[in-house]
Amino acid sequence: MDDSLTRIAQMLVAPHKGILAADESTGTIKKRFDSIGVASTEETRQAYRQLLFQAPGMEQYVSGVILYDETIRETTDAGVPFPKFLSEKGVFPGIKVDMGAKPLALFPGETVTEGLDGLRERLQEYKALGAVFAKWRAVIAIDDQKHIPTDFCIEANAHALARYAALCQEAGLVPIVEPEVLMDGTHSIDVCFEVTKKTLQRVFVQLNAHRVQLGGMLLKPNMVISAKNAAIQVGAEEIAQKTLACFRETVPAEIPGIVFLSGGQSERQACETLSEINKQKGGAPWELSFSYGRALQASALVAWGGKSENISAAQEAFLAQACAVGAAREGAYVAIGS
Ligand code: 13P
Repeated sequence: MDDSLTRIAQMLVAPHKGILAADESTGTIKKRFDSIGVASTEETRQAYRQLLFQAPGMEQYVSGVILYDETIRETTDAGVPFPKFLSEKGVFPGIKVDMGAKPLALFPGETVTEGLDGLRERLQEYKALGAVFAKWRAVIAIDDQKHIPTDFCIEANAHALARYAALCQEAGLVPIVEPEVLMDGTHSIDVCFEVTKKTLQRVFVQLNAHRVQLGGMLLKPNMVISAKNAAIQVGAEEIAQKTLACFRETVPAEIPGIVFLSGGQSERQACETLSEINKQKGGAPWELSFSYGRALQASALVAWGGKSENISAAQEAFLAQACAVGAAREGAYVAIGS
């Protein structure tokens, strides 16, 4: 086992800290910018990412940042490459390496994540650009009416995740393995539990078959939660109970850390649920941290609004939320206001 992978994985889930997912693809960041009425250009994207990375003190809460292909090649206004800028602050640069979830042929409503062709070479390039870890996101949708997910979709995605993870470890990069069971729809938390359980079981079967060293990777899953439009919305306590119960059945103890995605939870809910999970974790063998995108950026994005005069306000909003998420990661989140 390559000890350096284990060390990096452990540092990414150091106390109080977790990961900022700033790896929105060009299509996704356009949607985020559309929501605040800002045109998505290379210039606005660089300005926005720079304000997050330059937020003073963000390194107290952020151990690593996931970058997108465009961003890892960009620099600060002063000409320092983003990966170098982050490393000098003690923040690990990472990179999204999948090419997106694409329709799974002959399986309507399901997707398989692409990007394995040429991945070995791309990983070498990203490593040379400064990346020390990588991310690949698989997407599992639930729709009871359509009888999805199918076992085939789960297996195809688990297989691709494991091939990606093996290539990362071969290249000396820590893989973040992200099988996301979506919150979209009307399904209950119990359906989410069953689908998440089956998905994680298949993912670990494939990771083992591909000889991936579990101590040198991180798992980035969804929480076990009611769908966005489910009739019954359960609270943080039950989400924490069911999430931990699901992971106790499926996630091997060698995994150093579980870094949750926020997946459409509000900033506040993502703090409440992560905090409750950490309160209830008992003797759980893994660190339970975060790799949030929207739940770290939503307020900052609105505060910025695309205007340079709002950069300080946006950085303050980002830091306040990062501090709250950092507290939640220790089970110590206290909501402010109503
Ligand atoms: P969210 O926290 O917004 O779900 O994003 C995390 C991520 O990286 C999804 O791939």
